[in-house]
Amino acid sequence: MSIKIPEYVAGHGLLKGKSVLITAAAGAGIGFSAAQRAIEEGCRGIVISDIHEGRLAASVEKLKAETGCEQVFGKVGNVAVEDDVQALINTAEELLGGVDVLINNAGLGTTKSLIEMEDPEWNKVIDVTLNGTMRMTRYMMKIMKERGDGVIVNNASVLGWRAQKEQSHYAAAKAGVMALTRCAALEAADFGVRINAVAPSLAVHAMLKKSAPAELLAELEAKEAYGRGAEVWEVANIMMFLASDYSSYMTGEIVSCSSQRA
Ligand SMILES: NC(=O)c1ccc[n+]([C@@H]2O[C@H](COP(=O)([O-])OP(=O)(O)OC[C@H]3O[C@@H](n4cnc5c(N)ncnc54)[C@H](O)[C@@H]3O)[C@@H](O)[C@H]2O)c1
Repeated sequence: MSIKIPEYVAGHGLLKGKSVLITAAAGAGIGFSAAQRAIEEGCRGIVISDIHEGRLAASVEKLKAETGCEQVFGKVGNVAVEDDVQALINTAEELLGGVDVLINNAGLGTTKSLIEMEDPEWNKVIDVTLNGTMRMTRYMMKIMKERGDGVIVNNASVLGWRAQKEQSHYAAAKAGVMALTRCAALEAADFGVRINAVAPSLAVHAMLKKSAPAELLAELEAKEAYGRGAEVWEVANIMMFLASDYSSYMTGEIVSCSSQRA
């Protein structure tokens, strides 16, 4: 049996007056949903970024059309490239007059047993998922430190806690994102910046259905106490809470978005 999907919750003004930057937001997944939710929660402007130029332009138009918000901007960028990271954050700072909230959503994985793993595949997953989050966090922290304000939300995964076959690279990267979140949060607390992470278990969307075997997705859904994966907006809702002043006394925390804790 699966627990039914609740009604889509209307925005409550959680990000009223804030500006937002989100990476990897041109997919069908959590990043795009978080961008939509941020607008619904009243943000004053948003920059979405992605490595895929065509989908990014389409996503900007879609967000504008669906929400009526005009302050939606797109900037292509690869979080694995330091120059892209700095250009993205500098552009967002200019377009938005300062970034209040950064959501580090970019992360990727493959399915490969460790004994078949070649260095390039291992390194790519670590470089985008862990190093990309580190690069974005490091540069954004420097700017937020000057202002003495700001919030960063990272996207981890329950695989940072749990074991799963053929996921050693991705799980290692996400465990790293968790450790990075805790340590960076301690440093950032000194200058008034909060850093937390969400750890989703499974959020099924169109692109994931194309890339992951149907049997594996069914097996993972069956392991959830709810008998289903999360809707992408159920993960985005937690990001909104962590990005908002409602979580003002939280930093360095990893919040599980799962119906089955490790
Ligand atoms: N979907 C899930 O079940 C699930 C579960 C746990 C964690 N996560 C994490 O959530 C995040 C979002 O995943 P999602 O499945 O919702 O997909 P998504 O649609 O939010 O993100 C995929 C997007 O990332 C972009 N991208 C890939 N490499 C990039 C790079 N180097 N720089 C910038 N953009 C890049 C792609 O072009 C694509 O548009 C990831 O960090 C993922 O590891 C997802």
